[in-house]
Amino acid sequence: MSAKSTIREEISTTSTLLGKTAKSFAVPATISEHGNAKVVAIFNQKGGVGKTTTTINLGASLAELGRRVLLVDFDPQGGLSLGLGVNAHSLPLEQTVYYALMTPTASVETIILKSSVPGLDFLPANRDLGTAETTLGAEIGGQQYLKRALTSLRDYYDVILIDCQPTMGQLTINALVAADEVIVPLQCEYFALHGFIELKGNLDKVKNFLNPNLRLIGILATMYDKKTSHNRQVLERILEQFPDDVFETIIAKTIRFPETTVVGEPITTYASSSDGAASYRRLARELVARGGAR
Ligand SMILES: Nc1ncnc2c1ncn2[C@@H]1O[C@H](COP(=O)(O)OP(=O)(O)OP(=O)(O)O)[C@@H](O)[C@H]1O
Ligand SMILES: [Mg+2]
Repeated sequence: MSAKSTIREEISTTSTLLGKTAKSFAVPATISEHGNAKVVAIFNQKGGVGKTTTTINLGASLAELGRRVLLVDFDPQGGLSLGLGVNAHSLPLEQTVYYALMTPTASVETIILKSSVPGLDFLPANRDLGTAETTLGAEIGGQQYLKRALTSLRDYYDVILIDCQPTMGQLTINALVAADEVIVPLQCEYFALHGFIELKGNLDKVKNFLNPNLRLIGILATMYDKKTSHNRQVLERILEQFPDDVFETIIAKTIRFPETTVVGEPITTYASSSDGAASYRRLARELVARGGAR
C-alpha cells in the first residue's frame, strides 16, 4: 500500500471521543465509468468555520481515490481559488464562475482550471460574483442558474463540491438548489448548536420549496482542539441531539491548514503524511461510505 492510501486510525473521531471503537472505512473501489456526479454544497452561514479548507482538502482526497472532482468557488472573496494558487481577482469576468452562472450559452468547460492535483479541477470566482446577488433575486428562475450551469458537467465529473459564502443569500440558495447533499462544517464553540438549528431551518425551507431531494449528509467538526473542554462539551451536545447527522471523522486544529493557503495547495500534497491530510482522506472514504459521493 502506498503512503497515500495508508489508513491511519489514530486520528480523532467522534467514536473515540465517546470511548467507542472507531469504524474503519475501506478504500472504495475505483470508478471505471465516470460521470453522473453527485453535487455537494459545503455550507454554514457562520464565517471562518472551515468551509473552504474542507472543500479543497476533501476534493483533493476524493481525487486521490481516482474520482474526477470539480470544485466550484462560489464565494466572491475567491478564497478557494487562492487556496489552489490562483488569484482570481485578476481574471477577466468571462473566465470566472460568474460568467458560467449568468450566461446560458457559456462554454463552462473553457472556464474550468486544473489544480496541481491530478483529477482536481475548479471554477474560479472573484468579486464580480457578488454583483450576481441582486440579479439572481430579480430574475425568473434565478434560483436555478447554478444548477443550469452545472448540468453538462455532471456527465464528466464524479463529484462536484460547491464552496459557499457565509450568508444565506441568492448565491447560497443557488448552491442549495443545485446540490444533492450538504456538508456543514462546524466549529464546536458556544452558540454553534444554536447556529446549526437556524441553518437546519433554512435547509428545510429550501427542501420544501425548491429542492425536495436535498439531504444533509453530515455535520463535520472542524478546528477541533481536544485540549479545550468546551470543544468537547459542544460536540457531545451535538452528538446527543443529532447522532446520525455527524461525520465520525473530526478535523483537528492545526497550523498546517493556514500554511496551505500560503503555498496554494491542498494539505494532501503540502504535508501528505500529516494528521490533517489523514483526516481529510478518512472523511473522503466516510463520505463515499455514506453514499455522499460515488
Ligand atoms: N483544522 C484547522 N485548523 C487550524 N486552522 C484551520 C483549520 N481549518 C481551517 N483553518 C483556518 O481557519 C481559517 C478559516 O478557514 P476557511 O477559510 O476554510 O473557513 P471558511 O468557513 O471558508 O471561511 P469564510 O466563511 O470566510 O468563507 C483559515 O485561515 C484556515 O486556514
Ligand atoms: Mg470560505
